[in-house]
Amino acid sequence: AMAGAVAGAASEAAARSCRVFLNHLDSYGGGNIGKYLSRCVVGASLEEVVEDEEEDDEAKSAGEASSKPKAGVYQIVGTLSQAGSTKPDFAEETYTVSGSRKELLSYLLECDVIIYNITEDADQIEEATWAASALYAEVQHFEKQKIFILLSTVMTWARSKPLDPDDPEIPFTEEDYRRRKTHLNFMDHINAEKMILKLGKTHKQKFSTYVVASGLQYGAEEGILHYFFKIAWLGESPAVPVFGVGTNFLPLIHVVDLAAVIQNVVDHRPRTHYLVAVDESIHTLQDVIKCISKNVGPGKIQKIPKESAFLSKELTQMQLDMLLVNLRMEAIFLKENFNIKWVAQMGLVENIETVLKEYKRHRGLLPVKICILGPPAVGKSTIAEELCKHYKLHHVKIKDVISEAIGKLEKITASKEVTEAEEMGEEGEEEEEEEDDEGGENVEEAQELLDAVKENMEQNGGRLDDHHVIKFMKEKLKSMPCKNQGYVLDGFPKTYDQAKDLFNLEDEDEEEETKGKMPHYDKIIIPEFVISLNASDEFLKTRVMNLPETVVAGTHYTQDRFLRSLSLFRELNTEDETVLNYFDELEIHPQFIDVAKLEDPENRVLVKEMIKEIGEPRNYGLTKEEKAELEHKKAEERLAKEAEEQAERDRKEADERAEKMAKWEEWNKHLEEVKRQEQELLEAQSIPLRNYLMKHVMPTLMQGLNECCKIRPDDPVDFLAEYLFKNNPEIE
Ligand SMILES: *[C@@H]1O[C@H](CO)[C@@H](O)[C@H](O)[C@H]1NC(C)=O
Ligand SMILES: *[C@@H]1O[C@H](CO)[C@@H](O)[C@H](O)[C@H]1NC(C)=O
Repeated sequence: AMAGAVAGAASEAAARSCRVFLNHLDSYGGGNIGKYLSRCVVGASLEEVVEDEEEDDEAKSAGEASSKPKAGVYQIVGTLSQAGSTKPDFAEETYTVSGSRKELLSYLLECDVIIYNITEDADQIEEATWAASALYAEVQHFEKQKIFILLSTVMTWARSKPLDPDDPEIPFTEEDYRRRKTHLNFMDHINAEKMILKLGKTHKQKFSTYVVASGLQYGAEEGILHYFFKIAWLGESPAVPVFGVGTNFLPLIHVVDLAAVIQNVVDHRPRTHYLVAVDESIHTLQDVIKCISKNVGPGKIQKIPKESAFLSKELTQMQLDMLLVNLRMEAIFLKENFNIKWVAQMGLVENIETVLKEYKRHRGLLPVKICILGPPAVGKSTIAEELCKHYKLHHVKIKDVISEAIGKLEKITASKEVTEAEEMGEEGEEEEEEEDDEGGENVEEAQELLDAVKENMEQNGGRLDDHHVIKFMKEKLKSMPCKNQGYVLDGFPKTYDQAKDLFNLEDEDEEEETKGKMPHYDKIIIPEFVISLNASDEFLKTRVMNLPETVVAGTHYTQDRFLRSLSLFRELNTEDETVLNYFDELEIHPQFIDVAKLEDPENRVLVKEMIKEIGEPRNYGLTKEEKAELEHKKAEERLAKEAEEQAERDRKEADERAEKMAKWEEWNKHLEEVKRQEQELLEAQSIPLRNYLMKHVMPTLMQGLNECCKIRPDDPVDFLAEYLFKNNPEIE
């Protein structure tokens, strides 16, 4: 027990100090590998992998074990590829690349494992070889062994001569590494491989080097295959391109599996120093792209010449070189010596479902599914269009769905003759291969259905029975575009039963349903948001009446048709079980909007409200140009608003000033008037007073004053008073 405890403590101490440097932590590979290693306990891969009983694909595929072990995991540090990047959560520390080499070396010296990825960025080759040499020069100061892993690429094998000219199918293994011949654009890579292997030979116990020749990486955000995934997902072109003939074999590896290989190298420190890291698949470029197209996108592929592939701006020369490589490789060493919990051991094609789930999660590609219901003329279609534009969704209208379905059936039945004709000729082969799902006996089925549908419509005066409509609608909602981006379902279903038939899964287990459980509905096609628009009959009638004639002509809003469909709508929505009840029962609570209340003829407020409710777009979002356009618009709007506000403020101020001035003037005028009146009054009053004083007071007063001046008494005022009193003429 003692020994165990000591060993435990020792390994813990060792674990704590295992610091791993990785370049470009913010890149696809750096991020995925760094995240993976940051969750690995040091030495964990030395123990046998215990197969998990429960298949937790999702957690497994992303290397995202639900609970991250806290103690003894690898500490990740490293550089960032872009100045603006922030430190990823899994990293302990990041270093700026702009710092001096001396500084970088001091960081590297603190690490136990240094991993340099040069797979896709040729600029990193120089830094990697510098780092290896600089570390080598310090080797006598190392306290314990450091290992250096150069993550290179199978491209340094691209021109190797077949092992057996008679059997080119024999794969290369790491044992053949001395015979490898590089692709001409990867000379620097192979030189770096050779130099770094050599540096690891002289002081093995202090400085050991490895080269991992990695297959092309996919998985998570999809790495080199993302170009194809994106085209397929967007579904904007009818086929996914294959460059050249597509018969070249691609050595691939899931990026998380590559991370596991690196984990094993670090844990095992094997005697073999050159390792090949590829999965066990043997797939051509065409196999891979066909699989992507079938499972993500339009379902078809299209071969385009290599030369035009080079025109694509989205792929670099290096990526194209990689996609056009033709190599068969087998990773014997890791198969025999390593413990790897593979995400995709047998390759992309065998694991496409897991890979697809992971792709959508990593890229945030979740569909937005909306259903808009409401009476005729309430504005469903205009709003649906706005929402489709904002979220890049597919507008699903019953009329279009039916005509599209019929068109498809007609095409299938018509192609029967074409295919037969082509099979006579020589060029039929390729066509047939691509259509292999739709050909054959389906033609007859299609013909039958088409006949039934046409007959049904004829008998019903152009209307189609519910069960046909539901079938077509189901197909539409399950189509790849609706599954990928999502849809806005416009005015359908109209009844509880239609909703049930459309969304409920056919239950094999009838008993379970009767137990009052929630009905099983199809999660793939059920809407997430249900919006119920409403307005009074009066409002709707007025709206239709006021529609310009040109608009009415193109729609079904002739007066009696409109009135009939309005009363039908009201009837259906007063029943005990309405379509809104259906959604309510599934806890998808409709959002009710009274259109009339908003006085919003262009639905601006309405659509804004809905967007707020529904949230951010979840697909690839806006393109750079669209973003710029939007920003521009926003800026303009803001400026206009600001200008308007300023003008408003100015106007207000001017008004206030004018008002003040007016008041001021009035006040002044008033004041002057008062003064003038006072003056007048004073003057008017002063005239008789003056006369009075002149007549009765002044003569006596003047005499008194004269007398006072003559005598100059000691107390003049008293004298004057005495004088006036004595000489008052009235008293006489
Ligand atoms: C290697 O680096 C390049 C360029 O920084 C990056 O695009 C790629 O994802 C990285 N790959 C791995 C496996 O680290
Ligand atoms: C829609 O409006 C009408 C008329 O105002 C009303 O009778 C009906 O109950 C409303 N329906 C809903 C679902 O709110």
